[in-house]
Amino acid sequence: TAAEATGHPHHHTTTVAHRGASAYAPENTLAAVDAADELGIDWVENDVQRTKDGELVIMHDTTLDRTTNAEEVFPDRAPWKISDFTLDEIEKLDAGSWFSSRFAGETVPTLEEYMDRVSDNHQKLLLELKAPELYPGIERQTLRELRHEGWLDGKHRKRLIVQSFNATSLRTVHGLRPGVTTGYLGTPAVEDLAQYAEFADQINPNYRTIDSGYVAAVHAVCGPHGRPLEVFTWTVNDGPSAVSVAGMGVDGIITNKPDVIRDALDDL
Ligand code: G3P
Ligand code: CA
Repeated sequence: TAAEATGHPHHHTTTVAHRGASAYAPENTLAAVDAADELGIDWVENDVQRTKDGELVIMHDTTLDRTTNAEEVFPDRAPWKISDFTLDEIEKLDAGSWFSSRFAGETVPTLEEYMDRVSDNHQKLLLELKAPELYPGIERQTLRELRHEGWLDGKHRKRLIVQSFNATSLRTVHGLRPGVTTGYLGTPAVEDLAQYAEFADQINPNYRTIDSGYVAAVHAVCGPHGRPLEVFTWTVNDGPSAVSVAGMGVDGIITNKPDVIRDALDDL
């Protein structure tokens, strides 16, 4: 390829739409998945949590108030924890108007609806287990839903990464389904990387915490599948920062503005 010919490793950098293309559509909605698709971005990131009645839904915060009209619809239910509301209640909420009136009526997707849309668009999924310590058993439940939708079949393996800030939870995912690609969110000390490599294929750090030495140290360790650990870094929203981390050798860039990042990398 041109990238190999010119020796520019950044041409292989994967661009991931963070919470969907969340600069252009309300985060973690189907509209944000479609916005990424319309930009030609095939990887989307989301956050999975669980309702009071045990349904998996897509939202970043552990409370409903920032990204829906929950305060208006349920004024006496502060602090609007996801785990205090049934799916029926959550489906009554508007998850788009806070972002722009253009997205009025957008809803909080279930994991199943979300995966269906990603599949329909032929996209790939970087699924985050968000605050799994609040939801005992969410690892097994999430993997079960993924399996039912065919996401754990051999041919789809390359379309799915499960990530978390919670190392215990990620270790559980790896133990239950060792074939699934996993990413640990954080910046472990270099001397601890071998421990993470028991259950994580990726180390996914805040881009402000890394340099080329750190990225090289991560790449020098092999993960549970015998491949060098990868680095997907977040949340990079401007071209110069993307060029900088690409130069450090990161494998992926997680961004709210995937078009901006892709264009910056294309210009290298
Ligand atoms: O994908 C990385 C990033 O999503 C981690 O931080 O807070 O946006 O979930 P946060
Ligand atoms: Ca996330």
